[in-house]
Amino acid sequence: MQATALILHNLLRWAVLLMGIWTVLNAITGITTKRAYSANDNRSNLLFMIFCDVQLLFGLVLFFTGPWLEKIKAGMGPLMKNTTDRFFIVEHAFMMILALWLVHIGRVAVKKAAPESKHKKMLLFFGIALLLIIVSIPWPNKGEVARPLMRWFN
Ligand code: HEM
Repeated sequence: MQATALILHNLLRWAVLLMGIWTVLNAITGITTKRAYSANDNRSNLLFMIFCDVQLLFGLVLFFTGPWLEKIKAGMGPLMKNTTDRFFIVEHAFMMILALWLVHIGRVAVKKAAPESKHKKMLLFFGIALLLIIVSIPWPNKGEVARPLMRWFN
Protein backbone atom coordinates (compact mmCIF):
# COMPACT_ATOMS: atom_id res chain seq x y z
CA MET A 1 0.00 0.00 0.00
CA GLN A 2 2.73 2.46 1.03
CA ALA A 3 5.00 1.48 -1.89
CA THR A 4 2.15 1.86 -4.39
CA ALA A 5 1.12 5.20 -2.89
CA LEU A 6 4.74 6.42 -3.14
CA ILE A 7 4.99 5.44 -6.82
CA LEU A 8 1.64 7.07 -7.62
CA HIS A 9 2.50 10.19 -5.57
CA ASN A 10 5.79 10.45 -7.47
CA LEU A 11 4.23 10.04 -10.94
CA LEU A 12 1.17 12.17 -10.30
CA ARG A 13 3.44 15.15 -9.61
CA TRP A 14 3.96 15.36 -13.40
CA ALA A 15 0.22 15.53 -14.07
CA VAL A 16 -0.14 18.25 -11.39
CA LEU A 17 2.71 20.24 -12.95
CA LEU A 18 1.39 19.83 -16.52
CA MET A 19 -2.12 20.95 -15.57
CA GLY A 20 -0.70 23.85 -13.54
CA ILE A 21 1.47 25.02 -16.45
CA TRP A 22 -1.46 24.66 -18.89
CA THR A 23 -3.65 26.75 -16.55
CA VAL A 24 -1.04 29.50 -16.13
CA LEU A 25 -0.37 29.63 -19.90
CA ASN A 26 -4.13 29.96 -20.53
CA ALA A 27 -4.27 32.80 -17.99
CA ILE A 28 -1.32 34.62 -19.62
CA THR A 29 -2.63 34.26 -23.18
CA GLY A 30 -6.09 35.26 -21.95
CA ILE A 31 -4.69 38.49 -20.48
CA THR A 32 -2.42 39.35 -23.41
CA THR A 33 -4.99 38.65 -26.17
CA LYS A 34 -7.95 39.94 -24.11
CA ARG A 35 -10.05 36.96 -25.18
CA ALA A 36 -13.12 35.86 -23.25
CA TYR A 37 -12.84 33.26 -20.48
CA SER A 38 -13.55 29.96 -22.23
CA ALA A 39 -14.53 26.35 -21.53
CA ASN A 40 -10.87 25.48 -22.19
CA ASP A 41 -9.75 27.84 -19.39
CA ASN A 42 -12.27 26.25 -17.04
CA ARG A 43 -11.18 22.73 -18.06
CA SER A 44 -7.51 23.44 -17.41
CA ASN A 45 -7.97 24.78 -13.89
CA LEU A 46 -10.59 22.16 -13.03
CA LEU A 47 -8.14 19.39 -14.01
CA PHE A 48 -5.37 21.18 -12.07
CA MET A 49 -7.63 21.09 -8.97
CA ILE A 50 -8.64 17.45 -9.47
CA PHE A 51 -5.03 16.22 -9.85
CA CYS A 52 -4.02 18.31 -6.80
CA ASP A 53 -6.83 16.70 -4.77
CA VAL A 54 -5.82 13.18 -5.78
CA GLN A 55 -2.20 14.06 -4.96
CA LEU A 56 -3.32 15.22 -1.50
CA LEU A 57 -5.01 11.86 -1.00
CA PHE A 58 -1.81 9.91 -1.76
CA GLY A 59 0.18 12.39 0.34
CA LEU A 60 -2.11 11.69 3.30
CA VAL A 61 -1.75 7.93 2.78
CA LEU A 62 2.05 8.34 2.84
CA PHE A 63 1.86 10.57 5.88
CA PHE A 64 -0.32 8.20 7.92
CA THR A 65 1.27 4.90 6.84
CA GLY A 66 4.90 6.04 6.96
CA PRO A 67 7.22 6.70 9.92
CA TRP A 68 6.11 10.34 10.14
CA LEU A 69 3.46 10.13 12.88
CA GLU A 70 5.87 8.24 15.17
CA LYS A 71 8.42 10.97 14.60
CA ILE A 72 5.89 13.65 15.55
CA LYS A 73 5.00 11.69 18.70
CA ALA A 74 8.69 11.52 19.60
CA GLY A 75 8.69 15.32 19.81
CA MET A 76 8.91 18.38 17.59
CA GLY A 77 12.36 19.35 18.94
CA PRO A 78 14.34 16.43 17.46
CA LEU A 79 12.10 16.44 14.39
CA MET A 80 12.91 20.06 13.53
CA LYS A 81 16.64 19.32 13.84
CA ASN A 82 16.46 16.55 11.21
CA THR A 83 16.45 18.05 7.70
CA THR A 84 14.50 15.21 6.04
CA ASP A 85 11.87 14.95 8.78
CA ARG A 86 11.41 18.71 8.91
CA PHE A 87 11.13 18.92 5.13
CA PHE A 88 8.48 16.21 4.65
CA ILE A 89 6.44 16.77 7.81
CA VAL A 90 6.53 20.54 8.05
CA GLU A 91 7.66 22.22 4.81
CA HIS A 92 6.41 19.83 2.10
CA ALA A 93 3.04 18.98 3.67
CA PHE A 94 2.32 22.54 4.84
CA MET A 95 3.29 24.29 1.58
CA MET A 96 1.40 21.76 -0.57
CA ILE A 97 -1.76 22.12 1.53
CA LEU A 98 -1.41 25.91 1.21
CA ALA A 99 -1.09 25.52 -2.57
CA LEU A 100 -4.17 23.27 -2.70
CA TRP A 101 -6.12 25.79 -0.67
CA LEU A 102 -5.14 28.53 -3.17
CA VAL A 103 -6.30 26.30 -6.04
CA HIS A 104 -9.69 25.79 -4.36
CA ILE A 105 -10.29 29.44 -3.44
CA GLY A 106 -8.93 30.38 -6.88
CA ARG A 107 -11.69 28.37 -8.58
CA VAL A 108 -14.31 30.25 -6.56
CA ALA A 109 -12.63 33.64 -7.14
CA VAL A 110 -12.48 33.05 -10.92
CA LYS A 111 -16.13 31.96 -10.98
CA LYS A 112 -17.23 35.10 -9.09
CA ALA A 113 -14.98 37.56 -10.97
CA ALA A 114 -16.25 39.96 -13.63
CA PRO A 115 -15.61 38.66 -17.18
CA GLU A 116 -12.73 41.10 -17.80
CA SER A 117 -10.82 40.07 -14.66
CA LYS A 118 -11.22 36.27 -14.76
CA HIS A 119 -7.84 35.64 -16.41
CA LYS A 120 -6.07 37.96 -13.94
CA LYS A 121 -7.56 36.06 -10.99
CA MET A 122 -6.62 32.81 -12.70
CA LEU A 123 -3.00 33.93 -13.02
CA LEU A 124 -2.85 35.21 -9.44
CA PHE A 125 -4.25 32.17 -7.60
CA PHE A 126 -3.07 29.33 -9.83
CA GLY A 127 0.27 31.01 -10.56
CA ILE A 128 1.14 31.33 -6.86
CA ALA A 129 -0.10 27.78 -6.21
CA LEU A 130 2.06 26.41 -9.04
CA LEU A 131 5.13 28.27 -7.71
CA LEU A 132 4.58 26.89 -4.20
CA ILE A 133 4.25 23.37 -5.62
CA ILE A 134 7.42 23.72 -7.73
CA VAL A 135 9.56 24.95 -4.82
CA SER A 136 8.19 22.31 -2.40
CA ILE A 137 8.87 19.23 -4.56
CA PRO A 138 11.85 17.14 -3.34
CA TRP A 139 13.74 17.48 -6.66
CA PRO A 140 16.89 15.36 -7.20
CA ASN A 141 19.09 18.45 -6.62
CA LYS A 142 17.62 19.09 -3.16
CA GLY A 143 20.46 17.51 -1.22
CA GLU A 144 19.35 15.46 1.79
CA VAL A 145 15.66 15.43 0.83
CA ALA A 146 16.26 14.62 -2.85
CA ARG A 147 13.93 12.05 -4.45
CA PRO A 148 13.93 10.51 -7.95
CA LEU A 149 12.15 12.16 -10.88
CA MET A 150 10.34 8.91 -11.60
CA ARG A 151 9.47 5.65 -9.84
CA TRP A 152 7.90 2.58 -11.43
CA PHE A 153 6.22 -0.67 -10.35
CA ASN A 154 8.60 -3.65 -10.14
C1 HEM B 1 0.57 19.00 -5.33
C2 HEM B 1 0.92 18.44 -4.22
C3 HEM B 1 2.08 17.52 -4.01
C4 HEM B 1 3.12 17.17 -4.84
C5 HEM B 1 3.38 17.64 -6.27
C6 HEM B 1 3.95 16.23 -4.11
C7 HEM B 1 5.10 15.64 -4.59
C8 HEM B 1 5.88 14.73 -3.91
C9 HEM B 1 7.03 14.04 -4.44
C10 HEM B 1 7.55 14.19 -5.87
C11 HEM B 1 7.52 13.24 -3.47
C12 HEM B 1 8.71 12.27 -3.58
C13 HEM B 1 8.17 10.89 -3.89
C14 HEM B 1 9.27 9.87 -4.03
O1 HEM B 1 9.98 9.63 -3.04
O2 HEM B 1 9.41 9.31 -5.11
C15 HEM B 1 6.70 13.43 -2.28
C16 HEM B 1 6.90 12.79 -1.10
C17 HEM B 1 6.05 12.90 -0.01
N1 HEM B 1 4.89 13.64 0.06
FE1 HEM B 1 4.16 14.85 -1.38
N2 HEM B 1 3.41 16.04 -2.85
C18 HEM B 1 2.28 16.81 -2.75
C19 HEM B 1 1.44 16.93 -1.67
C20 HEM B 1 1.61 16.27 -0.48
C21 HEM B 1 0.77 16.44 0.68
C22 HEM B 1 -0.43 17.38 0.74
C23 HEM B 1 1.27 15.62 1.65
C24 HEM B 1 0.81 15.36 3.05
C25 HEM B 1 -0.26 15.75 3.60
C26 HEM B 1 2.43 14.96 1.11
C27 HEM B 1 3.21 14.06 1.78
C28 HEM B 1 4.35 13.48 1.32
C29 HEM B 1 5.19 12.59 2.09
C30 HEM B 1 4.95 12.14 3.54
C31 HEM B 1 6.24 12.21 1.26
C32 HEM B 1 7.42 11.29 1.61
C33 HEM B 1 7.06 9.87 1.31
C34 HEM B 1 8.02 8.91 1.93
O3 HEM B 1 9.19 8.92 1.59
O4 HEM B 1 7.56 8.14 2.77
N3 HEM B 1 2.62 15.38 -0.18
N4 HEM B 1 5.70 14.33 -2.59
